[in-house]
Amino acid sequence: MTAIRARFAHVETCPFEGERIFFENAGGALTLNAVVETSARYAAIPDNQGRANGASRALMAAIDRAKADMRVLLNAPEGAIFVGESGTELLFRMIRDACLGAPEGGVVLGSTVEHPASRSAAARWAEVTGREHVWVKHDDATGQVTPEAYAAAVTPEVRVATILHTSPVTGMAMDVPAIAAAIRAEAPEALIVVDGIQHACHGRIDIAGADIDGYAISPYKMFSRHGFGVAWASDRLTALGHDSLTGGPVGAWELGTRDTGAYATLSDVVAYFDWLGAEVSGASDPRQRIEAAGAAIHAHESALTDAMLFGTDNLPGLASLPGVTVIGGADNPAREGLVSFWAEAVPASEIVDRLNEAGIRTHLRKADHYSGNILEPLGQTGCVRVSLCHYNTLGEVRAFLDAVRGIL
Ligand SMILES: Cc1ncc(COP(=O)(O)O)c(C=O)c1O
Repeated sequence: MTAIRARFAHVETCPFEGERIFFENAGGALTLNAVVETSARYAAIPDNQGRANGASRALMAAIDRAKADMRVLLNAPEGAIFVGESGTELLFRMIRDACLGAPEGGVVLGSTVEHPASRSAAARWAEVTGREHVWVKHDDATGQVTPEAYAAAVTPEVRVATILHTSPVTGMAMDVPAIAAAIRAEAPEALIVVDGIQHACHGRIDIAGADIDGYAISPYKMFSRHGFGVAWASDRLTALGHDSLTGGPVGAWELGTRDTGAYATLSDVVAYFDWLGAEVSGASDPRQRIEAAGAAIHAHESALTDAMLFGTDNLPGLASLPGVTVIGGADNPAREGLVSFWAEAVPASEIVDRLNEAGIRTHLRKADHYSGNILEPLGQTGCVRVSLCHYNTLGEVRAFLDAVRGIL
């Protein structure tokens, strides 16, 4: 843990508010020190790409390296990897181009569990392209949508489908390969776009293992920084029409000059997963090291959320505190490093404020356009979201449980 935490910035101290425990990773994970250094280094370089000089060639090599590194992290030997304005913007672009490029008519299929990024893009472009937008209902009790629920809704008319990998409100991961298979069983030609934004920091991304066409990530939620999104698109999705420069390279997704430093930070992220994989396994193959890192991340995060839910030492967990309800159920194997709850006695907003006063950073999710789809069916106006990452410790969970018990 010491070696892991040494690789990140602002682990224990906020530069504005001082010492704090950071359980707001779903809002933006900690940044790797290497990412900070890389960003500063590239920000100082005036050269542009595509020139016949050494600096320019070095920039293009950094972009190529980042794309190659991301192929290993994502397990995506084929398809295009590109950056854009944000994860949301990339979801909009991929869903828009899928809707504009798919054969006429039919249906755009999504789920009520999705973040508004994909829900809004699908709603808008279904309407613009004259298609019905059908929602698969998620299960309020488990906080997820199942392959069976998709299977019950999918028809051969589905042209475009969206899937949320992990919910930022319930914390539950969907079974993306099984949902994609359920869609393809009825609609083999459907274009399937996945929102991987909340899943990415938990490792275990396997694009080749899921029959999909698009996958979006927000790098600041995966140990890089703000200012850009990164996406993968299948050759099929790439072959459709896109906004691009007339006469420019065929199949290019990028619009305008790319931020080399943004790309280069992705290599730092992949190097970090690689390092972690080597620490926890003897694997010599780079992809195996990434997988080992993902397994270790999942095991550690599960241990932390189990402690948060079921207690540790003499501290009771959230699940046994009177009047506390855990969204998605306390005992849920789909959970990825995130616990959302409400308490009967104290409003969620007050719990978040008082945790802040105690130096513990969590987040209030409100029944607004971001989280209303999850909270309204549960009859709640808000909940406390506690989101952690593999660099969080059991000691931090203990401090949280102690503080919550006091507040309640
Ligand atoms: C699942 C999911 N999708 C989309 C987004 C939007 O990401 P961004 O604001 O980085 O575009 C978020 C942000 O929290 C998210 O958790």
